[in-house]
Amino acid sequence: MNTIRFGRLGFILAAAGSAVGLGNVWKFPYMTGENGGGAFVLIYLLTITFIGLSLFLAETVMGRLSRGDTVTAFETLAKTHQNYWKYAGFIIITGVLILAFYTVVIGWILKYVVLSFQTLPSTVEVAGGLFGGMVTTDTYGQLGYFTLAFVLCFWIVSRGVKAGIEKVNLFMMPLLILILLTLLLYAMSLSGFGEAFSFLFKPDFSKLHSSSVLAAVGHAFFTLSLGMGSIMTYGASLPEKENLFRSSIMVAFIDTAIALVAGMVIFTFLFHFGAQPTQGPGLVFVSLPALLSSFGLLGNIIAIAFFTALAFAGITSAVSIIEPVVMYITNRFNLSRMKALLILGVMTYGMGVLALMSNIETLKASVTFFGKGFFDILDFMSSSIMLPLGGMLVALFVGFFMEKQTLQTLLLPYMSKRLFAIWYLSIRYVTPVGVLCVMLNKLFF
Ligand code: PHE
Repeated sequence: MNTIRFGRLGFILAAAGSAVGLGNVWKFPYMTGENGGGAFVLIYLLTITFIGLSLFLAETVMGRLSRGDTVTAFETLAKTHQNYWKYAGFIIITGVLILAFYTVVIGWILKYVVLSFQTLPSTVEVAGGLFGGMVTTDTYGQLGYFTLAFVLCFWIVSRGVKAGIEKVNLFMMPLLILILLTLLLYAMSLSGFGEAFSFLFKPDFSKLHSSSVLAAVGHAFFTLSLGMGSIMTYGASLPEKENLFRSSIMVAFIDTAIALVAGMVIFTFLFHFGAQPTQGPGLVFVSLPALLSSFGLLGNIIAIAFFTALAFAGITSAVSIIEPVVMYITNRFNLSRMKALLILGVMTYGMGVLALMSNIETLKASVTFFGKGFFDILDFMSSSIMLPLGGMLVALFVGFFMEKQTLQTLLLPYMSKRLFAIWYLSIRYVTPVGVLCVMLNKLFF
């Protein structure tokens, strides 16, 4: 039984801190660029509204009702077959996989905060060489920054839910929003702003590839931290009287707004300099520093602000991936927080090192399996298979294997009967079918 409760703003900030991460500031812009802009954004927004939000509320409800770790939540809330359902709680294992490569990327970002103090690469080619060189040849440098990112995230969680997680989010989330809004204000004064606006908000369905719809659905899961118990675990620390429906809407709104602001900032810079939006994962690390270099000192300041904000976003998400596993180990095995962190730490650090090695030219052969590097395998396994599967399990569980009465008692004070009916329909049918489509698409196409 979890007896620690977040403060008034604590849950919203922590859940928003979890949701807002590399997915918003790094992945969303490049996915939008690759998938043709406005039409992709529209589908992403519809998915957040009709699938993401429902699932977010479902995970929150499970955490709030069970007040326990994810395994306990499935076990105690199941109408029947508790013994089998408890295994669904092991969706937290996905976190181990995500964490290993996520902390490597946070390491890159920390390095880019430092690089932003120096002369920025003057062309996209030079910036590409710098980024590629770091990822494919600089083993020890990357290892150093990865270790720094890793220790930082674990140290925050070691301080506990209130003194660590809640405090860090209370400080980092507003700062992140401030930095992004300042960048947005600056972007508004540039000539690329109008073009960026049309690119993001004027849907051109002719540019939409067949897989973009499902890519948008998949990204909605990742960006809202759904399908691996992060939101469920934070839900266990919800204050007694929190309006779950309103908080869920607020978190989904903050998450979406930040992705859109990040998108506007990045595309404004791109269009201002006539660069192409279809640059893949290098968009933030390669294009942005190159474009900013022509601004001189101001460019350095913007780069420092941007990468610091990105690091904050990544750290608060990583923390939310660590906590579910720690809560499970401490609750079920009666071990101390420190011991739980040590167990998880050893596992994920080792995997992180292997992930990092799999991008290094001279080392990659030993960590490549079935033609895919370990880094890519972790990414693929977690976002393409395990998160959607976890999301589907949660939706089916809440929709068909929990008492409807319990759900109504908890939620009806906060939402009308009609809204509840729509949510229930979405969780029972819309979400599982949607997830199934994402999985089939990612596996077979
Ligand atoms: N939502 C985070 C992001 O957008 C990633 C994440 C996924 C965090 C799953 C927790 C759980 O970067």
